[in-house]
Amino acid sequence: MNVYDSARMVDVLVSLGFVSTERPDDADMVILNTCHIREKAAEKVYSELGRLRLLKEAKVRAGGRMILAVAGCVAQAEGAEILERAPHVDMVFGPQTYHRLPEMVARASRAAGAVLDTDFPADPKFDHLPAPGRAEARAAFLTVQEGCDKFCTFCVVPYTRGAEYSRPVDAVVAEAEHLTGAGACEITLLGQNVNCYHGEGPDGREWGLGALIRRLAEIEGLERIRYTTSYPADVDDELIAAHAEVPKLMPFLHLPVQSGSDRVLAAMNRRHGAGDYRRLTEKLRNARPDLALSSDFIVGFPGETDDDFRATLRLVEDVGFIQAYSFKYSPRPGTPAAAMPDQVEDAVKGERLAELQDLLNRQQLAFNEACVGRVMPVLLDRRGRRPGQMVGRSPYMQPVHTEASEESLGALVALRIAAGYANSLSGDVVDRAGPAMNAGNPA
Ligand code: 5AD
Ligand code: SF4
Repeated sequence: MNVYDSARMVDVLVSLGFVSTERPDDADMVILNTCHIREKAAEKVYSELGRLRLLKEAKVRAGGRMILAVAGCVAQAEGAEILERAPHVDMVFGPQTYHRLPEMVARASRAAGAVLDTDFPADPKFDHLPAPGRAEARAAFLTVQEGCDKFCTFCVVPYTRGAEYSRPVDAVVAEAEHLTGAGACEITLLGQNVNCYHGEGPDGREWGLGALIRRLAEIEGLERIRYTTSYPADVDDELIAAHAEVPKLMPFLHLPVQSGSDRVLAAMNRRHGAGDYRRLTEKLRNARPDLALSSDFIVGFPGETDDDFRATLRLVEDVGFIQAYSFKYSPRPGTPAAAMPDQVEDAVKGERLAELQDLLNRQQLAFNEACVGRVMPVLLDRRGRRPGQMVGRSPYMQPVHTEASEESLGALVALRIAAGYANSLSGDVVDRAGPAMNAGNPA
């Protein structure tokens, strides 16, 4: 979502005459778009700000100037503290205020005091942001839902992104048409809790994510639809049916479970047990037999015993994941879990994480190897490191390398998978893929 948000910030700033640059040293303005989800992500902001201070000072000595801004969830959570710890920062603004950038930039340019904007405006920012200027790539992001009301006890999102909000169906469809018109053939629908989507439909009723996906699938030129991130307890029958009946919906689902222990899940306030998760994934696979799953895991949540952790390993064995993110529990200031007794020692967290990741890596490799021989539609969206090499994504989000001509850049191409590695595949071009190839079909 930060990638999407950054692109929207660029869209706003282009109207002020800014252009984006890859090099901070010649920039008139640098915006750090930040993540607060775990401590490590937040720490990075301050070390990065230290480096940028040197650039800013050099620029000022040379008679130039640089506006230094911190956006995103660290800005939202830390607010004025950033200005105290890093006084060379000119602007601090949270994720709900990007449409006010022109005004903030003007104020920072006139620059006496630093600008701080971490409001949650009543009128959603989406009403004020310009339509995305261009599809950066053939695969685009589209935020349909933002914020979260679930309050998992470890998580800062409800505090930093604010209350749950779903964009109206018409606005989403218009943006999707705009993106496909500009060349995108794959769209990933984004939301912190994307499957609790309940945007206002053109009929005045609330539509769920399943209905939204069916509507988007009607858009010509849009070949692949994905969505992330989902909350297990909010997967409803309508969404499961969409997996069964909408071929453009890719057979890959990121469905974070966090833990396999009912006790830990309850302490996390997750609203699903390990059994619910097992049943749900079974239902999804009955609807779409080639569906594959990825997940998020937290190890060392306060009070997690060795037995609890074993339950997580069992769940991983039973369900099977082709990809996953796993983290040591990181206490976030202001969240209930940070104040819980029985915090787990870091060394124990480290051991559990290594054991879990070892299992997950083996599952990922096994799946990648099992892909050998299959023909998969791959969206070749970037050049590889070697000349004549292209890289793209399979229906399962695996990076796939292949030898292909320059004209195939941006094309959906059928590749026969020749090898499966730990984190990627390689394959050979079979044929150009048409829309019929999109089902991630087994060969
Ligand atoms: N500590 C560790 N991991 C966390 N996540 C969210 N909050 C924390 C935390 N405090 C993980 C969850 C979530 C993912 C985006 O980040 O697994 O699904
Ligand atoms: Fe955080 Fe996701 Fe839980 Fe919401 S549902 S509180 S975003 S972990």
